[in-house]
Amino acid sequence: MKKHFRSILCLLLALCMCGAALAGCSGQSKDKSDDGKDEKEDVTYTLDNIRDYIVGLDEPVELEDGSKQALINFDNAATTPAFLPVMDEVNDKLKTYGSIGRGFSQKSNISTDIYNNTREKVLKFVGAYDENEPDKYTCFYVNNTTDGLNKLASALIEDKSMTVLTTRIEHHANDLSWRERCSVIWAEVDDKGRVNYDDLEKLLKENDGKVNYVSVTAASNVTGYVTDVHRVAKMAHAHGAKIIVDGAQIVAHRKFSMKGATPEENIDFFVFSAHKMYSPYGGGAVVGLTEELNKHMPTFYGGGTVKIVRDKSYTTKDAPAKYEAGSPNYPGVVGLGKAIDILEQIGFDAIEEHEKKLNRKLIDGLAKLDNVILYGDCENIDDRVGVVTFNFSDINSYHLAEQLTKIGGVATRRGAFCAHPYVWRLLGIPDDDVDQYNECAEASTPGMIRISFGIYNTEDEVQQFLDVMPKVMDAAREITEQSEKVRPGMAKY
Ligand code: ALA
Repeated sequence: MKKHFRSILCLLLALCMCGAALAGCSGQSKDKSDDGKDEKEDVTYTLDNIRDYIVGLDEPVELEDGSKQALINFDNAATTPAFLPVMDEVNDKLKTYGSIGRGFSQKSNISTDIYNNTREKVLKFVGAYDENEPDKYTCFYVNNTTDGLNKLASALIEDKSMTVLTTRIEHHANDLSWRERCSVIWAEVDDKGRVNYDDLEKLLKENDGKVNYVSVTAASNVTGYVTDVHRVAKMAHAHGAKIIVDGAQIVAHRKFSMKGATPEENIDFFVFSAHKMYSPYGGGAVVGLTEELNKHMPTFYGGGTVKIVRDKSYTTKDAPAKYEAGSPNYPGVVGLGKAIDILEQIGFDAIEEHEKKLNRKLIDGLAKLDNVILYGDCENIDDRVGVVTFNFSDINSYHLAEQLTKIGGVATRRGAFCAHPYVWRLLGIPDDDVDQYNECAEASTPGMIRISFGIYNTEDEVQQFLDVMPKVMDAAREITEQSEKVRPGMAKY
């Protein structure tokens, strides 16, 4: 009997093991085709299927009434969710992760190769790679655009006597990074909020030969305006300045090339973040003229940047190594490389068309709502990436953004978007009046609401947003009217 029981036990155990093995197989087979090839490799990513490859899109959030729904994410200018294949690639490449550029191991070699080979991919992505001059540009990795602009500024600016010309459309990283280090002059915006190219040229003429760098954004995070950076490059070069372009808001939206129609129109330095291109692993890059980068040194020191350190002196390596002190961010670089592949496969023509459709539908829908104020040019939207900002003259924007989340499950950003001087201009607040908001409660600070699209957003989502707006507006108007926190006259913001 005992023997019989043991046989049954063995059989059960064998069945369990077999089941577990099968389960293991079926788990793996998700990613494997019959010939064992990784199925993920076979997917062609398009605008039509990309929603299936965005991490967390269906993750429900709880609304005020206790119901749950997937968030409509209209806050992509701040950061984008991850591409699933980016996440998979990072996880996969972590299996062979080893010390980069420092270790002696097979894994270390694999990681180092991936890390360095991605540089060429980055250069090609931004039109900075030329087979005839493969070393003309190089790229060093950074954590994000702010980090990149600060590192670049710390290297290029040698003393306070130097001058940078920037514009009033910039977000803070492309303004404060310079203010803190040298003398800065700003080109104004025109009455629609675009960069005023005439003013920019006038300032270059007035300061002929004195401006060392012109630093402009490729696209605004407030209005989505795309700057004609090649036109600016030509102006800058004609007056002896080099040009730096902040690419944070362009890389996931439009095809960008550092190469202009003529050499005078070429961009000298370009900075961007990977977290705005569906790879939130802290990657990013500064692409720049190798010769220029070799002449300078960032104020960021440590291992990896030096050849030999003696008791009281040291010699530095060339770029990019001397700009990358410490152990590098490998997941950030792997994710960036994969995100580039996917965006290029989808194609920037398709992305641009899609964003224009979303912008048009949103702007037309908003324009029908009572007391709406829309910022930027809403007729000619061709030079706008998928960013739309607005207000209602009778509703506090803070309360509206909050109600949009609580009632509508819609994520937006509200405020001045780390681009204060530009937003104050669009709101018509004189510089002298701004100090009073330093100590304000957040709801009482001036601002606007921003909707910023990702490639996965749909016209249906725009419609859902427009459908819920009347209810949201009623709720936010009521709070605006009752709230003691809202200063008199602030409701209009
Ligand atoms: N990342 C900031 C934004 O939300 C600047 O636009």
